[in-house]
Amino acid sequence: MSPVKLSARVATLQPSATLAMVARVKELKAEGVEVLDLTAGEPDFGPPSCAEAAAKDAINAGLGRYTAAAGLPELREAAAGLAKETTGLNWSADQLLVTTGAKLGICQALMALVENGDEVLFPVPCWTSYPEMVQLAGGVPVPVQCGEDHLPSVEDLAAATSERSKVLLINTPCNPTGAVYPKALLEEIGKWALKNGIAIISDEIYAAMTFGGAKHVSPIAVLPELREQSIWVGGMSKAFAMTGWRMGFLGGPSSIITKLAGLQSQLASSPPAISQYASIAALRDGTEDCLKMHSAFEKRCDLVSKALATMPGVDCPQPQGAFYAFPGFGYFLGKTDSETGKQIQSGDDLAELLLEADRIAVIGGSAFGKPDAIRLSFATSESVLQTALERLAARLNKLS
Ligand SMILES: Cc1ncc(COP(=O)(O)O)c(C=O)c1O
Repeated sequence: MSPVKLSARVATLQPSATLAMVARVKELKAEGVEVLDLTAGEPDFGPPSCAEAAAKDAINAGLGRYTAAAGLPELREAAAGLAKETTGLNWSADQLLVTTGAKLGICQALMALVENGDEVLFPVPCWTSYPEMVQLAGGVPVPVQCGEDHLPSVEDLAAATSERSKVLLINTPCNPTGAVYPKALLEEIGKWALKNGIAIISDEIYAAMTFGGAKHVSPIAVLPELREQSIWVGGMSKAFAMTGWRMGFLGGPSSIITKLAGLQSQLASSPPAISQYASIAALRDGTEDCLKMHSAFEKRCDLVSKALATMPGVDCPQPQGAFYAFPGFGYFLGKTDSETGKQIQSGDDLAELLLEADRIAVIGGSAFGKPDAIRLSFATSESVLQTALERLAARLNKLS
């Protein structure tokens, strides 16, 4: 035990549950155990080939050096194009900041907006990192429970609002539920935010991934006045399959972005140079590769949704975006598995049983604020998904 007393900030921090499960699956695989892995939060595709070529060229040209703190001007320009595609709004390069992944970008945005004790609202189920990020920034996390459709009502947001409410952190398409916010709901949320002077951090990292005719609408674009009090979040990880390159973007009023660039100059000096050159190429020429990935995800989403719909007792609104399904297993809680004798009290117990008995790896719902659910990622092949879903159905039949 170290004699060093850690700060409360770190001492109470929960490590990412999803990354912990991913690490466990890696260990099992290293031991030679075959696991049907449905945990991935990253596409099972490679980055666009033009991005890899541009990275190699940048290394050969000796460009692996610090860049401008806010990112390379050409990349800020290209990110403005991505922001336009995603939100439908016009952006200039000085309204965009390049960050070391969207995750850190969200932390930076929270650091810039939140005073100690300010409340940050976010609809739940939510990405596992939001509550911890809010706390790291000195804020108070305020989860707002969503309805059956995995969407919040504006009444629930209003009921959770207090004098200390400062920011709404909203994610569409949503990890873990796959919910895509409809425009009418976003308009209501926008009016509530304007009325209460609440800033919006709009995490649109999965914007390119919508399925079955669902259309992404940016929460900050539904009412013109919202823009002045909103920060858009995008990045290269999901739509361009560039997770390890750690490239994210923040978009907002240039006055806020200039301050955020100053913050970044102290935190990171600059985002990684080689990844920036790769991202410029991907944004300019990588779309074709991304479309192939999108159509594969669309087919898998269909396969997963249809299979879950045939399982009695499983409650799963159709995912419309991102690459996850988030079925609820409330009906099965308290039941016992006839083969192992294990009783299921939560989605986490079910995830444990599936890993031990069926070698299927999923993430238990408590990491996302809904303990009776599990998250299934469809960032894996159709054959793995098919087999995993068959085994899941068979396991559920053994619960009584
Ligand atoms: C909802 C959501 N936002 C942001 C991120 C962060 O992405 P990045 O890899 O750019 O840090 C993730 C990654 O899993 C995510 O699921």
